Amino acid sequence: MTRYADDSKERVRDAVDIVDLVSTRTELRRAGANSYFGRCPFHEERSPSFHVRPAEKVYYCFGCQASGDVFSFVMENEGTDFPGALELLAGRYGVTLEVADEDPTAAARRQRRERLFGLLERAAGYYERYLWETEEAAPARDYLRGRGLEEEVLRAFRVGFAPSAWDRMLLASRRAGFSEEELRAAGLATRSKKGSLYDRFRERIMFPLADERGRVVGFGARAVRENQPPKYLNSSDGEVYHKGSQLFGLHLARKEAARAGSVLLAEGYTDVLALHQAGLRGAVGLMGTALTEEQVGILARTARTLELALDADRAGQRAMLRAAELAEKRDLTLRVVPLPEGADPADLLAAEGAEAMRERVGRSVPFVAFRVDRVLAGADTGSAEGRDRALEELRPIIGSLGASVMREELLQRIAGRLELSGALVASLAEGPAAAPANGTVTSRRLPASDPPRTRRPDRREEIERSFLALCLAMPEQGAAALARASLEEHFSNDRTRQAAEHLRHHLQAPLANLPDDDPDLAAYLRALTVRFDREPVGRASLEHAWLLLELARLQRAIVAARRAESVEVATLAHEREQVRRRIDEVSERIDRARS
Ligand code: CTP
Ligand code: MN
Repeated sequence: MTRYADDSKERVRDAVDIVDLVSTRTELRRAGANSYFGRCPFHEERSPSFHVRPAEKVYYCFGCQASGDVFSFVMENEGTDFPGALELLAGRYGVTLEVADEDPTAAARRQRRERLFGLLERAAGYYERYLWETEEAAPARDYLRGRGLEEEVLRAFRVGFAPSAWDRMLLASRRAGFSEEELRAAGLATRSKKGSLYDRFRERIMFPLADERGRVVGFGARAVRENQPPKYLNSSDGEVYHKGSQLFGLHLARKEAARAGSVLLAEGYTDVLALHQAGLRGAVGLMGTALTEEQVGILARTARTLELALDADRAGQRAMLRAAELAEKRDLTLRVVPLPEGADPADLLAAEGAEAMRERVGRSVPFVAFRVDRVLAGADTGSAEGRDRALEELRPIIGSLGASVMREELLQRIAGRLELSGALVASLAEGPAAAPANGTVTSRRLPASDPPRTRRPDRREEIERSFLALCLAMPEQGAAALARASLEEHFSNDRTRQAAEHLRHHLQAPLANLPDDDPDLAAYLRALTVRFDREPVGRASLEHAWLLLELARLQRAIVAARRAESVEVATLAHEREQVRRRIDEVSERIDRARS
């Protein structure tokens, strides 16, 4: 592993503006000469108890006792280890890290990557200047302007233009001292069948693709003429570009998305630019691919809510279902921005303007409501058969919801639209017990969605609840898992603790042994028992839920140990790393089992 020079930590600390850093996570207000305060990014709260002292560059929360410096802040928030935090902060605040006693292969690898980053950076600058300064790019400038994209946003995203000649990039890069091999490794040049090298990107509008720190790692290149396939030519996977972990515009959107707690996901490059221009600066682009687990992981680290602004056509719907499955595992709340079918945000923005688009985003609905509306919109309500079909499609969707106001509202909407009797509506709410009229039961695995709540869902409680529900769904493994858990350390409040305690003794028949004097506990347990009723669940899901519980416990233990300045911190952090790794493994297993 890279070891940085001894003074690196202090040099980086000096460069960081802690108020700016914390502001990416929560809004801060000045509290005095040398203090700021805001809502704590580490726990749920309504009134602000989180304090930052810019002179000492430390933070402290009177609510949850989280405290630390700029490095722990990044480690906790971004889920990195210390070197990761050091690198991230160095990148963000412009500090060049020097490496101490680097082993020769690592040094060579790092230098190699730096060369490629340097080359890509030069290329981006070259294309950028070419767009704004040359006659050849005039039609491209007109085209972009015609799409409603203004210079400011084009410059912010460093949009450029690649000349039509075969060798401009080649010549310019060679002059700057880069080898042909480096040009190919960076994805800028291609070898022809005859063996000669030429520019990969020609006569195209260039969208630089950057990593989270804003370093250019590749390009998406749009054709400008009719007969110029493909419409988009992108960098292929290589030493520095990885399609599966790329989200277009993330480096520009991150701060706003983190502040707002929500990230907006659109399909294409022009969508993202247009959304940013309309003031929706938390927008990132999927670039027309299927959402990957890696991408969802990155999104979940950025914000807690993911708003999908994808086309509602068939492909778009598939993408949304996939997103829902992945989001559930990451505890990411999913909402859908209603868009007319066949329309993308860039076109809508050009047609309707920024205000209308912001309104659309403001009208986003929970994923489950979106699905219900789609079924209702497509239902043939003229025939009994058509209404039955819709009913069957809706059953698993509604079944994935616990008792909630959201469920009530959806049931009302369904009842009105399909003209259902009270009894049929009730059967829908009860789930699968009622046999469907045409005998088909859908057994697809369906994601549970969040009912709306008056406060932000408490993530910690949600993790505990999922764990308990899974123990119930698999009593045998559940008993073992419950025995492993510590009521004190793994559960954060009396409700989940009592439920866990009760289930330890009555897992086989939880509802038969309810205490008479606690109707709330009874209701809570009843809601738990229906939760996974009709979803196939497996050992891996329970293991995953257990690991999330462990992660939360370790997180709390680390905060406590840090407060006590205990040497335990390092051991606990190491344990936490291992738990994280296992979470990734199990997630992958679940994913493979599903696909
Ligand atoms: N895409 C791609 N390769 C293609 C086609 C599409 O990588 N051959 C990706 C691009 O990221 C593109 C996105 O998929 O932005 C959506 O494709 P599409 O809807 O066809 O393009 P738009 O983004 O709408 O492009 P434009 O607005 O410029 O027409
Ligand atoms: Mn488009």
